[in-house]
Amino acid sequence: MPTLKVDVRTSPAGSPDLVLFFIKGSPLPAGVPATEFDGATGSTVLLREKGQRTLVAGLGEKNKIEPDTLRRAAGVAIKALLKLGASDIALDLTAFPEHVAAAVEGAILAGYKFEGFGKDPSKKSRGVLTRLQAIVKDNELIAARVQAREAETVATISNTIRGIGNLPGNMLTPAILAEKAQDLAQGRALTVKVWNERHLKRDGFGGILAVGQGSMHPPRLIVLEYRGAGKRETPIALVGKAVTFDTGGISIKPGAQMDEMKWDKMGGLAVLGMMLAAADLKLPINLVGLIPSAENMPGPEAYRPGDIITSRDGKTIEVLNTDAEGRIILVDAIAHARLTYKPSAILEFSTLTGACIMALGHRRAGMFTNQEKLRDAFLAAGKSTGELVWAMPIDDEYRENVLSEIATAKNTSFREGSACSSASFVKIWAEETPFIHFDIAGTAWTTKPPAHLEGGATGFGLRLTLAALRAGLPV
Ligand code: BES
Ligand code: MN
Ligand code: ZN
Repeated sequence: MPTLKVDVRTSPAGSPDLVLFFIKGSPLPAGVPATEFDGATGSTVLLREKGQRTLVAGLGEKNKIEPDTLRRAAGVAIKALLKLGASDIALDLTAFPEHVAAAVEGAILAGYKFEGFGKDPSKKSRGVLTRLQAIVKDNELIAARVQAREAETVATISNTIRGIGNLPGNMLTPAILAEKAQDLAQGRALTVKVWNERHLKRDGFGGILAVGQGSMHPPRLIVLEYRGAGKRETPIALVGKAVTFDTGGISIKPGAQMDEMKWDKMGGLAVLGMMLAAADLKLPINLVGLIPSAENMPGPEAYRPGDIITSRDGKTIEVLNTDAEGRIILVDAIAHARLTYKPSAILEFSTLTGACIMALGHRRAGMFTNQEKLRDAFLAAGKSTGELVWAMPIDDEYRENVLSEIATAKNTSFREGSACSSASFVKIWAEETPFIHFDIAGTAWTTKPPAHLEGGATGFGLRLTLAALRAGLPV
């Protein structure tokens, strides 16, 4: 991928294409017919004057402008200009000094597209963003540079994990994911440990092994540590599901859209991104990121309905459906986090249930926790990042649904409320540790992209969690 250079300046350098942000109701720029453009959010109009292209992007009404308004408007503008073959683009942010971060972030996120593996790599469907200029007033320059640098860090890492996320199951196995995590940690203040099959057996990770045993591509557990605070400060644990492909296993899925299950690894990739960004931003906290990774396949060696599995901490699982595999690998990692690190909180991200999509659709992820302060922190982070979450219940009532006669818990119960009982299943392994589960099944990828993003992996959870961590999580 060609690298992107981000500049913050008081006037454009060279001859970039220009983006002007426009508040509804203000006087229209010269040359814009009122019938064509009213400044509504998402609307754009292109002006051409003596070889200079200027794209005017609507922000809607002034009193409704939030960071996400700029993020989206910048994304829409960048997408439109890249379609015209642009590569050097300047955003006029002179009127929006407080939204430099959001605009830069939106622009970089919109600059990423998964181009796949066509025959002619030079035949891209659009221009490639190689230079982004943020234009601000002289007295805002220093503050804007800080904002832009941080936004660039986060958005670039988001694009990196989206790029890995969009790789199909044959190109991204658990072992390859582990290698990529090791490569990305290189040169950063992160340590990485990878458990292969032998290590997983040695240490009693019965869940990860069971889910992975049907595949030619053996499972892995990837653990990253980041220390930005003192040795004695307890870390926060981040856990992410990375099923590199989910066929459902012996309880096999129907064929329609099964290809989308290549994105069943996005929780794990979000966690990888969080660790990379925490290191780059030098966050003053300690973190441990745990990414259990397996491919869920049917076959002679596959685990089966009825099996009873012993997890990392000795709790047992009655398997009733091999397609409810995410929770099985997650609880091994959560038990390991608890036993090894005694974390102050466990935040877990997974494309866990179709039921969560039924409940909330694709705009909001399900957030399951009893910790009121954590919930409020993430609701606020959702609003500022545009990665929205919605509080869902995780009561004892749901836990009863997954208790088993012959094991600690069973991996499925009723269809009704299954997003909630799945969350309650996972929580059993967190024991008394403050716990949040994010069900990102509906938000981790998009096949009907919004106007400000290309389709595919979204990186959902990364920007949300970084915002919450940077604001200081109440743990
Ligand atoms: N990865 C799926 C959940 C999923 C489905 C995410 C569709 C995004 C889109 C998960 O492993 C799964 O198969 N869950 C089952 C659980 C069921 C068997 C209890 C589900 O939700 O159908
Ligand atoms: Mn499944
Ligand atoms: Zn799955």
